[in-house]
Amino acid sequence: MSLPPGFLDELRTRLSLTQVVGRKVMWDQRKSNQAKGDMWAPCPFHQEKTASFHVDDQKGFYYCFGCHAKGDAISFVKETENVSFIEAVEILAGEAGMKMPARDPKAQEKADRRTQLVEVMEMAVSHFRLMLKTGAGAEAREYLTRRGLNEAALDRWEIGFAPDAWQGLWDHLKGKNVEDDLILGAGLAKPSQKGGKPYDSFRGRIMFPIRDARGRAIAFGGRAMDPNDNAKYLNSPETELFDKGRNLYNQAPAREAAGKGQPLIVAEGYMDVIALSEAGFNATVAPLGTAITEDQLRLLWRIAPEPIIALDGDTAGLRAAMRVIDLALPMLEAGQSLRFSIMPEGKDPDDLLKESGASAMQTLIDGAMPMVDLLWRRETEGKVFDSPERKAALDKDLRTAIARIQDPSIRNHYGQAIKDKRWELFRARPSGQGGKRPWQPGAKRGWQAMPPVLASTKGSVLANADERAQDALREAVILAILIRRPDMLDQVESRMERLDMVGPDHDTLLRCVLTTAHHGAEALEERLLNSVGGDVLDRLFSLNHVRITPAIRMSNDDEIVLACLTEELTKLEAKRGVAREIRDAEADMDALPDEGVTWRLGQAAEARNKALRSQTEDKTTYEVADNGSLMDREELEQRDRVFDSITFEKKR
Ligand code: UTP
Ligand code: MN
Repeated sequence: MSLPPGFLDELRTRLSLTQVVGRKVMWDQRKSNQAKGDMWAPCPFHQEKTASFHVDDQKGFYYCFGCHAKGDAISFVKETENVSFIEAVEILAGEAGMKMPARDPKAQEKADRRTQLVEVMEMAVSHFRLMLKTGAGAEAREYLTRRGLNEAALDRWEIGFAPDAWQGLWDHLKGKNVEDDLILGAGLAKPSQKGGKPYDSFRGRIMFPIRDARGRAIAFGGRAMDPNDNAKYLNSPETELFDKGRNLYNQAPAREAAGKGQPLIVAEGYMDVIALSEAGFNATVAPLGTAITEDQLRLLWRIAPEPIIALDGDTAGLRAAMRVIDLALPMLEAGQSLRFSIMPEGKDPDDLLKESGASAMQTLIDGAMPMVDLLWRRETEGKVFDSPERKAALDKDLRTAIARIQDPSIRNHYGQAIKDKRWELFRARPSGQGGKRPWQPGAKRGWQAMPPVLASTKGSVLANADERAQDALREAVILAILIRRPDMLDQVESRMERLDMVGPDHDTLLRCVLTTAHHGAEALEERLLNSVGGDVLDRLFSLNHVRITPAIRMSNDDEIVLACLTEELTKLEAKRGVAREIRDAEADMDALPDEGVTWRLGQAAEARNKALRSQTEDKTTYEVADNGSLMDREELEQRDRVFDSITFEKKR
């Protein structure tokens, strides 16, 4: 939808940001000056007790001095309600009494019809709600109480009851002059084959309203009261309102909760969603009576980068997981994946919560496993790999699965992860010895000891632990320099963005630097203190390598700072370049290196050596310090003693 020029400006002028924000924060009355539109509150975007979140009502702009969140009314609604831009505009336009621009007549007609259908659905919701409270609903009420739902929960979930009658809802709606066509169109009744009155779709069922992303009632899920009914759950048929593959149960509340940082959980059934939400896992959704679809996966990823699929711990649940994996593999992108959380055998989340409580559920959620682990299980579970042919077959299956991943970088990572697991599996493992056995459900099959036939013959050219430690030190030096001299980021920004960090906390430090360095040293320091805390910074600046680098000791000398910075970066990049080459080559997953791979490794190694050599030889900008090879401990300690006499002022 396109908005006419000036629409957004008009919207912003009409709105009071103070009012919009006021629904989500508690103003600090002492610090705020309402008359001037100068308002302060604890920030809704990060945890804090003090009021560092500032609203300038006149300018219609907010800024948090703590986390640097900033924006206007539209972005505020976008962020806090976790909705799209256009949805935020729609919400605010409604409040400001502005009509959203009209659509073309055809679309308008369709929209009008939808509005009418939704109205009928809402009438049905109220009717079913009422029925649950009448005598006819007594048995259903008892059942729901037994399942642990109190009055408040029934209200929250708008749970209702459709008595076991052929025209209960039909007669009710006709009594309110609703046209036949709308009742049928909403999927609430079906035409009679015998020429009689249409009959209710839902009879003798507990009714769960299903709402779309904007909260409109679009369908029902109905659970049979009669345990012998051949459909335990019956959902509304597909209608103009309801496309079951494109909606999720509890979508809107889950999206809001996920926006506040709760993990997005995908359960199988309505009762699971309700039980999980009631237990505090508010970002929970379920597909609607079908297996998860591609569209639903896309929806999930729009809500959160790594939804957790909660599976019933039975074969059906696992089979469902495998289907999801097949669906998801070609759709994986950076920051768009899945995790899986397997319930104890024979239990669904609802059962688990009842029997073991929220903390047991939390433990399972925390331990949710990455998709690659489940993929591995699928290909290996219950199989025996005691012959070259069987191993080759496994390799082929794995390669086929991985080949379905479109994103090259993710494909590589999967290749590497699988390779590691494969190595684990085929390594000698005396039978009967526990060790780290791959998971297996129920039956104890497979997983006999394997001779080390396929263990990597390449000898690892990959960075070993020592090299990683060295890399981490280099990273530390780079980060420390940028923290001391954030103004230098400009010179190396795009290189920094591409850098993968191995050191502890280095990712977070890097993110802080990249997002906040432009706001100056003080803002950066505050951000760092908030994100990693003083201990981490103290540790960083007390590292020997950091302390002795000329860039820190002479942090006012632009030339020295820049020279050190680019030099460390160049070395790290050279090493990372070679590591990437090796990873890519190994991800080919061929058991033996062919000539191509060997050549590529050779080239990469050569490149690295060259980079490191040139750096060690060219020390002109350095008065001290060996920056080519990192010094050994003794040497460092000796230097430290020397440098202790130089006043090293830690700015913090
Ligand atoms: P389950 O049979 O696992 O039911 O179906 P449940 O959610 O545990 O329900 P309770 O606890 O017995 O009340 C899981 C989901 O599969 C769909 C429904 O969406 C259900 O919530 N389903 C199941 C159907 O659509 N039709 C059925 O006949 C059964
Ligand atoms: Mn259940």
